[in-house]
Amino acid sequence: MKRQLPRHLVLSSLLLLPLAGQAAERLNVLCAADSEWCELMRNAFVKETQVEVSMVRKSSGEIFAQIRAEASNPKTDIWWAGTGDPHLQAAGDGFTEVYKSPQLDQLQPWAQKQAENSGYRTVGIYAGLLGIGYNPEVLKQKNVPAPKCWKDLINPAYKGEVQIANPNSSGTAYTTIATLVQLQGENEAFAFMKKMNDNVSQYTKSGSAPAKALARGETAVGVTFQHDLLKEAIAGFPVSVVSPCEGTGYEIGSMSIVKGAKNMAAAKRFYEFALRPEVQSLAVKAGSFQVPSNKTASIPPQAPRLESVKTINYDFAKYGSDEVRRRLLKRWDDEIFSLPR
Ligand code: F6P
Repeated sequence: MKRQLPRHLVLSSLLLLPLAGQAAERLNVLCAADSEWCELMRNAFVKETQVEVSMVRKSSGEIFAQIRAEASNPKTDIWWAGTGDPHLQAAGDGFTEVYKSPQLDQLQPWAQKQAENSGYRTVGIYAGLLGIGYNPEVLKQKNVPAPKCWKDLINPAYKGEVQIANPNSSGTAYTTIATLVQLQGENEAFAFMKKMNDNVSQYTKSGSAPAKALARGETAVGVTFQHDLLKEAIAGFPVSVVSPCEGTGYEIGSMSIVKGAKNMAAAKRFYEFALRPEVQSLAVKAGSFQVPSNKTASIPPQAPRLESVKTINYDFAKYGSDEVRRRLLKRWDDEIFSLPR
């Protein structure tokens, strides 16, 4: 006897057919946070959404350069994390998409300000203080004092003992130039960096590399973000953190959707995911101690807090502008990187 499927089942199976043939949703992310945190974010997002995520860690300036190079045919959908200045530059250059999150009013004023400054092409996701780190054991062996201020970095006692990143690749190092320029004036800051060059053993690619070198005892002094130094100290390495006596700069770590992203819907899903308080609160599990931008995310008790040290009034709009960032980087290449070491 011929048996027939009930009509409603036939229909629903037909409706399922195109879905079965459909490719899974994809997302291409460039991540400029610490690689452990990048990985944690990727895994948490995949678990929640089943979106296929390809994520690559690069430094902030490298991501900016890649997004600029790909502007006519973007391969990246979303740029998550990294210092705010190159995100602002990308916004000003029109490489990123205008997007206003419904969660915007749940963010700290500094994160909302970052969005306003960019015409809503980027948004603040965390804040972090710039600092100086040292390895007390290495300093003791060499019988040199611990640094307390920016001005100490030109002490000849530190010859060959200072590491800092290259500001072309690293957002941390660009934040340092912008901080010194705002503290001292541009010509004075370049004269200072020239003197500091005598003490620099290498300009690393990534901003947190000097913190890792300190932990391994490979260098005595390093300039990097305080949370990156703290990560090493909390892991048990002999690394001490200094907030420079003259005052210090800070970053508004940011996130931007790439203009013309091929996977726009998935990019917006990731964007909303990354602003949620419980997602931002996961950072500490990856040893990341920045201050989260969502007001109800939990702030790690060890996080270096902006209000607890002397900070400069960092002019993000100015130092994130195409004109200023491009000019300062060129000046650094011409006057500092070209010097003998
Ligand atoms: O390691 C984390 C971190 O310091 C972030 O807070 C910051 O946005 C990013 O790295 C900067 O990295 P880079 O200097 O390599 O661009």
